[in-house]
Parts: sequence; structure tokens; C-alpha cells
Amino acid sequence: MTEHARRGVFISFEGIDGSGKSTQARALAAALPAQLTREPGGSEGAEEIRRLLVEGAASRWSAETEILLFTAARRDHLEKTIAPALKAGSVIVSDRFADSTRVYQGAARAALRAKVDQLHEAMIGLEPDLTFVIDMDPEIALRRGLARDSGEDRFESLGLDFQHKLRAGFLALAQEYPDRVRVIDGSRAVDAVAADVQEQARRFLSGGSHV
Ligand code: ADP
Ligand code: TYD
Repeated sequence: MTEHARRGVFISFEGIDGSGKSTQARALAAALPAQLTREPGGSEGAEEIRRLLVEGAASRWSAETEILLFTAARRDHLEKTIAPALKAGSVIVSDRFADSTRVYQGAARAALRAKVDQLHEAMIGLEPDLTFVIDMDPEIALRRGLARDSGEDRFESLGLDFQHKLRAGFLALAQEYPDRVRVIDGSRAVDAVAADVQEQARRFLSGGSHV
């Protein structure tokens, strides 16, 4: 998407499973207010692809196939939901985006970061303006996630070591993209985390801080 076509603001939330990022994405979208969306999903076609990805055994897809499926879902999400919102000048908040592919498929599940980046550049070519990584102790996050019993536990069933790798991956991304990514301490009460996120988002939107 060319810069001149982008009049809105794109904010993403990232983190390990059960870190509280969906709770926080919802809270920020309600507070601003902003349009709320999610990945995998966020458009009719991408929600169909989501079902293929989040249900079934952990070994159902190879990491390479996952990259293709997540990117296919993201392309549809971009075309149908994100790009129109940005073109209309809206603020749009997404629960996960391309950083999840960089960390899950590019670093934690396999070392395929170069392929993830190539496909991203060829097919997506858009980064959020601002990304919140909700940082959490994997043991607490995993317990929260499994307690939900949503039937969408294909990734959570990969276990605690995997969640530790993911956490390290998200923290590394924050170092790689210091202008875009903010690390938020997710171990606090929901309202305290939400107040922190909201303050940083409002400051960003008012142009007060890009650091
Ligand atoms: P994620 O989207 O990162 O998987 P959720 O927002 O769905 O995480 O939160 C996972 C579970 O933890 C939910 O049951 C949610 O109500 C709970 N939760 C979220 N944030 C907090 C928090 N700060 N403290 C305690 N529980 C939380
Ligand atoms: P999500 O619904 O956000 O799960 P949770 O609320 O448990 O964090 O995402 C479903 C799973 O898909 C989650 O385990 C992360 C994984 N995922 C990837 O592996 N790569 C991706 O590119 C995305 C967007 C998600």
C-alpha cells in the first residue's frame, strides 16, 4: 500500500498465547474508539482460513505451510478490512499481525525468518504504525490460555518451552523495531495494563511521541 493511500492509523497487539492481548486490544478499541479486528481472521475468507490453522493436531501443518496459510489469510484481511479502514482515515486495532508470523513461524516453530520476510514484502508490504507487545510470564499465560478451553488450542498444545521461545522472539522484535514496538508489562491487573496502553496510544496519536 502506498503511503499516500494511508490516512488512518494502524495499531497491532502481539504477545504469547494467553498474555492478555485480546483483552487489551478490545479495551483500547473501545476507549479510543477504533475499529477492532484480529488475525488470523478479520475478514470472511480469513476467518475460514483461521479454522484450518487453529484446530487439530499441532503437527497438522509444517511451518512452511503455516507461513503460506497465515499470509493468505493476512492478504484477504488487508484487502477487505485493513486497507479500506486506513483509506477512510480510521484508526484500526488488530489483535495480532505480521509480527506473529515473524516470531511463531520465523523464529520459534522454525528458523524461517528470511522466507517470512520475503513473502511479507511480496504480498503484504504494510507494517503497523504502532505495536504493543504484551509481555507475560509464559507459565501464567499458558494457564490462562488453557483455562479458556476454546477448542482453538492447536498452538497452545505446543507447551511451555515453546512459549518461552515465543516470549524471547517478541522481545527481540521490540529491539529490532524500537520506533514501532512498545513492550508492555502484562503481569499487572487488566485496568492498569489498559491505562498504560491507552496513555501511550493517545500520545502517539496526538503526535507527541514516536519513541
Ligand atoms: P490472549 O488474547 O493474549 O490469548 P486474552 O486477552 O484472551 O489473552 O486473556 C487470556 C485470559 O486471561 C482471559 O481469560 C482473560 O480474561 C484473562 N486476563 C487477561 N488479562 C489479564 C490480567 N491482566 N490479569 C488477569 N487475567 C487476565
Ligand atoms: P490467537 O487467536 O491470537 O490465539 P491466542 O488468543 O491464544 O493468542 O491466534 C491463534 C494462534 O495462531 C496463536 O497460537 C498464534 C498463532 N499464529 C501464528 O502462529 N502465526 C501468525 O501469523 C498468527 C497471526 C497467529
